[in-house]
Amino acid sequence: MGLSVGILRPTIVRIAHHPWFRRLATQTRPGRAVARRFVAGETLAEAMAVARTLGEEGIAAMLDHLGENAGTQLQALAAREAYLSALGAIADATDLDAAISVKLTQLGLDESIERCWGNLAPILDAAAARRSSVMIDMESHGYVDDTLVVLARAHERYERTGVALQAYLRRTEQDAFGLPPGCRVRLVKGAYLEPSDVAHERKQDVDVAFARLFSTLLQRNHPIDIATHDRGLIEGVRERVDRLDGGWSRVEFQMLYGVRRDLQAQLAGQGYPVRVYIPYGTEWYPYLTRRLAERPANLWFFFSNLVRTAR
Ligand code: FDA
Repeated sequence: MGLSVGILRPTIVRIAHHPWFRRLATQTRPGRAVARRFVAGETLAEAMAVARTLGEEGIAAMLDHLGENAGTQLQALAAREAYLSALGAIADATDLDAAISVKLTQLGLDESIERCWGNLAPILDAAAARRSSVMIDMESHGYVDDTLVVLARAHERYERTGVALQAYLRRTEQDAFGLPPGCRVRLVKGAYLEPSDVAHERKQDVDVAFARLFSTLLQRNHPIDIATHDRGLIEGVRERVDRLDGGWSRVEFQMLYGVRRDLQAQLAGQGYPVRVYIPYGTEWYPYLTRRLAERPANLWFFFSNLVRTAR
């Protein structure tokens, strides 16, 4: 989050939430073409094809079936089924290192923790039968308490369940001390538009919090996914973990599909563990808005694509 991004982010989010912008993005060919930069496709088969291509470069995969804030139990059930299918495909692809990542609001968290748990538990059991990891994304700050409650229960049922923690949230440095021992943590900066009383706004403050959280999690023996494209943070982690005996057995780099492909390939080529988060599915619009808001240049890319195709 550079200073300009910090200022522009609320404006970009407002534009992206406008119905005409949504129509442009979802109902025009150039709009959908821009989305394809960040989204592997609408089907599991397309996501698996991306996972296979990355696998050939020595990069592992994490499948994210897109969707959030399920409005009905039917939608939550559909998300659960999609994840069970993804776990089936992962089990069949024995040569691939792939895991899944879920959003709890996609599984019914807005209705209740119990509803969400009823949909998550079968996913955990299927993952356990296949020895696949399950990561829980962290959504906007109002969901953090419930997410950590569900995580504790999920980790007790299946130890290869982990969670994302957001460095921009002021509370995260406390939350890091209350995690289940040994639980995997994906450390991210944070992607939602949050008020300044709950989240750091300046890039510098977020980066300092990220580095401090990394130290805390390392000292507390958590396996850690460094999920950022920020070269400075990646370098700091690399130098530190290179010096640790067996450090790379519990730290890996993670990046998003379509972002900094050069850095993904470079780190994997140097022998570091790298995993790419692969979003797929029809509900890609909210995910796209977060990617556009992270970098004003993406909005430029979006409009220039529209203009070029309209000519
Ligand atoms: P920063 O925004 O400072 O960007 C560093 C550099 O990366 C930029 O200079 C640019 O080169 C490149 N870059 C970053 N974003 C880009 C984009 N959209 N388009 C093009 N280039 C871009 N968040 C969350 O709140 N909950 C979650 O569960 C997750 N999960 C998650 C998983 C994984 C694997 C990753 C990598 C990220 C997430 N995130 C997330 C998103 C995360 O919080 C954050 O918004 C993005 O990673 C962008 O921030 P960076 O850390 O890359 O730094």
